[in-house]
Amino acid sequence: MTLTEQIRALAKERNAVILAHNYQRGEVQDAADITGDSLELARKATEVDADVIVFCGVYFMAETAAILNPGRTVLIPDPSAGCPMADMITGAQLRELKAKHPGAKAVCYVNSTAEVKAECDMCVTSGNAEKVMRTFPPEQEIIFVPDRHLGSHIAGLLGRSYILWPGYCPTHAALTAKSIADARAAHPGAPVLVHPECARDVRDAADECLSTGGMCRFARETDAADVVVGTEVGILHRLRAENPGRRFHPVNERLVCPNMKKTTLEGLYECLRDMKHVVRVKEPTASAARRAIAAMLEIA
Ligand code: 13P
Ligand code: SF4
Repeated sequence: MTLTEQIRALAKERNAVILAHNYQRGEVQDAADITGDSLELARKATEVDADVIVFCGVYFMAETAAILNPGRTVLIPDPSAGCPMADMITGAQLRELKAKHPGAKAVCYVNSTAEVKAECDMCVTSGNAEKVMRTFPPEQEIIFVPDRHLGSHIAGLLGRSYILWPGYCPTHAALTAKSIADARAAHPGAPVLVHPECARDVRDAADECLSTGGMCRFARETDAADVVVGTEVGILHRLRAENPGRRFHPVNERLVCPNMKKTTLEGLYECLRDMKHVVRVKEPTASAARRAIAAMLEIA
């Protein structure tokens, strides 16, 4: 049996579902039941009837699945797979900011710790942020954490102004407006897609600013033979597998999130074999964080 076959057999034995983020290694995506963006995976985590959820992604994603499934076992193959952006603000820092703006609603990007979500009124993902943020009245003061780029992108789309935390994604920070211009010159006429975690000048230089799930949808619907992709390169595996007639060109081949790559097939196998590493979120943090995520899922 191949390692993938052994993983599938173990998943069946354990009544486990394997969820993988679009940035995971190709072989991990292929071994998973579902590959998706943060929103799709959070939704799936509320719908599965498996006893065990194995989350191939970064820690906050597994934590979100654990918050939404208090009765199920949630496992992550490598618990050191963190998201540096999520760790750029603590619960105490957010409490301090909220104390300075007592009338404000606190909104967190899903790329945040459970402790931070527990302090928030609402959670958003890059796939639903515009729709969710539209539900706040224009005069409502908003604190948006931790991604200043997603926050400014949505504020710009809605013509509003948010109190932004200066967090960012170190992986997407490697993309520059010049790299977008170079990719355009190399692939004339090809649409250029970037993620909302990119800086403003990069977003302005692109044609579309989309979540990873939005990029997958765009790729299915476009007539373009060539598409330029400005996000983590793990997504290319799925884009190419689902759209064999098109060519996908990374803006930067070295745009790799090292934490997303910590999950390997071997790690996934050991995770299911040994039922490790269990992700738990303590009360009352879990219930408070669940309120913010549930508020989002109700709108999206
Ligand atoms: P998506 O929700 O678009 O998949 O983004 C998650 C993420 O961490 C991007 O860096
Ligand atoms: Fe976090 Fe950026 Fe990696 Fe996404 S790509 S998990 S935001 S560090």
